[in-house]
Amino acid sequence: MATSTITRTDAKHLKEPAVPRPPKDSQLATMSRRSVLALDAPVMAASIDSLNQLLADTLTIRDMYKKFHWQVSGHTFYMLHQLFDKHSGEQGDLSDIIAERVQTLGGVSIAMAADVAERSSIPRCPREREDSVAQITRLLHAHEIILLEARAMARDCATAGDVGSNDLIVSEIIRLHELQVWFLFEHLDLPERVT
Ligand SMILES: [Fe+2]
Repeated sequence: MATSTITRTDAKHLKEPAVPRPPKDSQLATMSRRSVLALDAPVMAASIDSLNQLLADTLTIRDMYKKFHWQVSGHTFYMLHQLFDKHSGEQGDLSDIIAERVQTLGGVSIAMAADVAERSSIPRCPREREDSVAQITRLLHAHEIILLEARAMARDCATAGDVGSNDLIVSEIIRLHELQVWFLFEHLDLPERVT
């Protein structure tokens, strides 16, 4: 015999939780994220917009790496299969850092695939499978787009006084992309070098 008192038909379990709210005239009511972070609202809004753009592009390149991890073929299969998965994981970790910075600033981070596709600056990949040179070329183009955006946004954040976002963009985003570009570029076996 069942002993639980909770049933699907008991309406009292469907009620909204009673969330305690502070009185309107309390000290809490005078606090805002703007004052606590010591950043002006327009500065935070500009950083949120920039970071959401970088987030959409980070999630896109993460998924490009995963797509190519699955679809790569040829004599470098195993090497690229491993490399693409590593880079996808690193971009996934980076997306978490960017999204949490958006939330810290009081924004709402982009999250779902449809919103990411709408916002991203990176051209959509074909559904079909491509060879490894085409995959690497697409990835290098995507990295270039993000690096151009990130450098401009880092400068804007620093000028506006949001050095926290500037640091995140430089230390986390730009450095990771530059490193991943190096690993990709060396697979193309091109003769030219910057001297
Ligand atoms: Fe895998």
